Amino acid sequence: MAKILVTGAGGQLGRQILHLSNNSNGASSVTTLGVTSAELDITDARSVADAVEPGMVVINCAAYTAVDAAESDEATASKVNADGPENLAIACARVGARLVHVSTDYVFDGTATSPYLPQSPTAPRSAYGRTKLAGEEAVLRVLPSATVVRTAWVYTGTGSDFVSTMLRLERERDTVSVVNDQIGSPTYSRDLASGLLELAASPSSGRPILHLTNTGTASWYELARAVFAGAGADPERVLACSSAEFVRPAPRPSYSVLSADAWTAAGLTPLRPWRAALSDALGEVRAGAR
Ligand SMILES: NC(=O)c1ccc[n+]([C@@H]2O[C@H](COP(=O)([O-])OP(=O)(O)OC[C@H]3O[C@@H](n4cnc5c(N)ncnc54)[C@H](OP(=O)(O)O)[C@@H]3O)[C@@H](O)[C@H]2O)c1
Repeated sequence: MAKILVTGAGGQLGRQILHLSNNSNGASSVTTLGVTSAELDITDARSVADAVEPGMVVINCAAYTAVDAAESDEATASKVNADGPENLAIACARVGARLVHVSTDYVFDGTATSPYLPQSPTAPRSAYGRTKLAGEEAVLRVLPSATVVRTAWVYTGTGSDFVSTMLRLERERDTVSVVNDQIGSPTYSRDLASGLLELAASPSSGRPILHLTNTGTASWYELARAVFAGAGADPERVLACSSAEFVRPAPRPSYSVLSADAWTAAGLTPLRPWRAALSDALGEVRAGAR
């Protein structure tokens, strides 16, 4: 029976992969094991070597994702985002396991005007982006058969993600200002998880880097308006502002739309449009609140 190991299984994406695997019909010939940071620290090379078994598919969802904090703690971010994935690649190479490594749109500088392809030049503008790019490079250097999957703007609608934050602010404030000069593709973690499981179950496409997001584009302002509308609130309560008015420690790419062409060319199913995914996500949030 094929075995999938999900690292960083306590995070939003890892949890969704386990949720989908555990709820797939019992006829599945795959067993999925999730390990949280407490159960497997990917910066610990020996523990990683012990955890990876021959024939396994490892999906690495473990990462240092505090984008702003990384600006003042790049060394820690680098340990998790660069050294950790390298440990996984070494372990997979040693025993003949497959590695699917999740990365980010923040490896790009955001100056493009059309969707980024996997081979588009990278130029991260933040410490987080630099450490994630170093992780991609380490993985593909050690294990050229690995697949790096870049994604973007991931939300679940719970915890402190953007959608959840907008739902909270809708309850707490009359109006909320949101930047309208950063463009990307909002991506529901459950859809992303489903795509990663499809990839893990498919023969390797031989493509080292793939991009996977829900389709369509939005600014954060448009996404916030869609969240308000989906929650039954007036979207006019969302006001547009610029990134210059909302300065944060880490610069964000102003355009980070990722092309799904390579994913589709690999014979994999593209994710649905982001508005349909958001609608389902908000339904899940409502169901969870009942
Ligand atoms: N969220 C986004 O918008 C977004 C966008 C683009 C790409 N991505 C990428 O998508 C992947 C999943 O992100 P996510 O949204 O699920 O992030 P997340 O919710 O922050 O989850 C990351 C997980 O990694 C764990 N972790 C941290 N250090 C670890 C270590 N040394 N060993 C093992 N596990 C460790 C964390 O555990 P603790 O909480 O216990 O530290 C957490 O459970 C990451 O590669 C991220 O870079 C995310």
